[in-house]
Amino acid sequence: MCGIVGYVGKGLAIPIVLDSLKRLEYRGYDSAGVAFCEGQSVFRERRAGKLIVLSEALKNRMISSGCAIGHTRWATHGAPNVYNAHPQNDTSSNIFVVHNGIIENFAELRDDLIDKGVVFSSQTDTEVIAQLLAIELLGKIHTYQNVVRAISTVIKKLRGSFALAILVKELDYIFAVKRSSPLIVGEKNGECFLASDIPAILPYTDKILHIKDDEIVVLCTGKIRVYDNNLKQRKLLFRKVNTKMQEIMLGSFESFMQKEIFEGAKATIDTVERLQHFDVCSQLDKTRFDGDFDLHIAACGTALHAGRIAKLLIEKYLRLPVDIDYASEFRYSYPILSDKSICIFISQSGETADTLASLDLAKSLGAYTIGITNVASSKLAGEVDVNIPTSAGVELAVASTKAYLAQLGAIYCLVVSIAKLLHKSLDLDINVLLEIVRQNGDMTYCRDWETLLPDLSELDSLFFVGRGVDYYLAMEGALKVKEISYIHCEAMPAGELKHGSLALITPQSYVVVLLTQAELMEKTINAIHEMQSRGAKIILITTKDVQIDVTHIIKLPAVPDAYSPFIAIRPMQELAYMLAKHNGYDPDKPRNLAKSVTVE
Ligand code: AGP
Repeated sequence: MCGIVGYVGKGLAIPIVLDSLKRLEYRGYDSAGVAFCEGQSVFRERRAGKLIVLSEALKNRMISSGCAIGHTRWATHGAPNVYNAHPQNDTSSNIFVVHNGIIENFAELRDDLIDKGVVFSSQTDTEVIAQLLAIELLGKIHTYQNVVRAISTVIKKLRGSFALAILVKELDYIFAVKRSSPLIVGEKNGECFLASDIPAILPYTDKILHIKDDEIVVLCTGKIRVYDNNLKQRKLLFRKVNTKMQEIMLGSFESFMQKEIFEGAKATIDTVERLQHFDVCSQLDKTRFDGDFDLHIAACGTALHAGRIAKLLIEKYLRLPVDIDYASEFRYSYPILSDKSICIFISQSGETADTLASLDLAKSLGAYTIGITNVASSKLAGEVDVNIPTSAGVELAVASTKAYLAQLGAIYCLVVSIAKLLHKSLDLDINVLLEIVRQNGDMTYCRDWETLLPDLSELDSLFFVGRGVDYYLAMEGALKVKEISYIHCEAMPAGELKHGSLALITPQSYVVVLLTQAELMEKTINAIHEMQSRGAKIILITTKDVQIDVTHIIKLPAVPDAYSPFIAIRPMQELAYMLAKHNGYDPDKPRNLAKSVTVE
């Protein structure tokens, strides 16, 4: 769950690599490093902390190298210190490796190497790769053919996931290889680029090539070669990417999270309009919906919260039972799946390890698999039976905002399509949804929070309460606030309060209550009274005209209940953002987290 980049060409490599790494920091920011070729040698600089620390260290260095690799790290093996920062090298400093992924059998490989007398200088799994390559190249001349053969031998010993970029002393080449971790290369006017993700190199080229598992890539000025696992060179078919530069630029916004909150309505509309043309119903395999079938949803974090709303809609409107679980639990909970199962996997990135593992499991048991993902080139999109694309555009902030709304849009389209397939009439209309989002999706609630921020930012705990769909929205609100403001947040179903959670409520407590469903109004108001009589201060977010005395009401537009999630999430996203800013935290890069969780 790190970001890797590489550049080789006539330009100055270090500024390009550092600039590209900036757009990969969402993948991790525990440490950063670069290695570059100069003369016959390879040099390295690395620092603990965010990329800015490394950039400062390199600021006054005149480095004329035209060939460099770089890394931004989210620590898996070993503390986030400078020794574990990448590039990792072999003992003789002939080989430098940056790595995104995880080598599952690294401990046994490492023990074996230690038995052979190799001395390790880090706790990382990546150093094992550098040391193995060194052994393979021992006594051999450093030619690119020899390095390609060495890489081919070494990757056969590795279990797990990796995208690697490698520099070898005496060679002005970048070598790269991947398995189950993303890797793209790009080219423009003889300059060659490599990265974990498109935004990293988009300012330099929009001619991109996706690398397949176990292919070995060699980049040098003016030439990219790709070898398959029989070491046969393959033809390169670059494609032009659609991502626009403004999608990855801040523009007038202070942070990507702020920008992405503002793009929520557009993400929903773009997704739904695209899916109307895509015609979800015609993409589904009708035979899988004949007779008996069982439905399952697995996802992580925000995507799971969107999935909970999918479950509710399917059960409420289609009267079909849905089993839902965290992907990390689903894969270990012995799910009862067969060729009668339909499994829906939701993931913004399409590269979340637990979601992908759940997908593998479902496929191995014969299930029909449906993906909802934002990254068309992702593993998830490529491996499900049918992928329903969301059109949120690039989402860079770790806290997912616009992608959640796009997922909801896709979910509503999917539910309507399944209804059509099953000839069920349904009280949901995609055009109504679009109209509601067009009219109300851009409303902002910053002013509401402004006066509350001083009190809220001092809290140790903040509670979110709701019932039914409002509880699922509360879950997403709580996740958003906790992950970037570091305040402990808990979502509680209104009806469960008196079964335990009410014990946490004191006169110091603030509770955000969601109320968007007429049928649950009375019950939720009762819960408010229960909490108020224990002294709690209530912030009510509602689409209803409620006559109730609370600390603060955030009045949302009175949209029909079925579409309230599209409107009710925004104030909570804004609260999270404003609390993080108020407390001086970077909303885009919360501590300990990274955007794509590509490790278990
Ligand atoms: C959301 O704000 C999170 N940072 C996180 O929970 C995220 O939704 C989760 O890791 C799933 O990611 P995915 O959608 O890319 O699979």
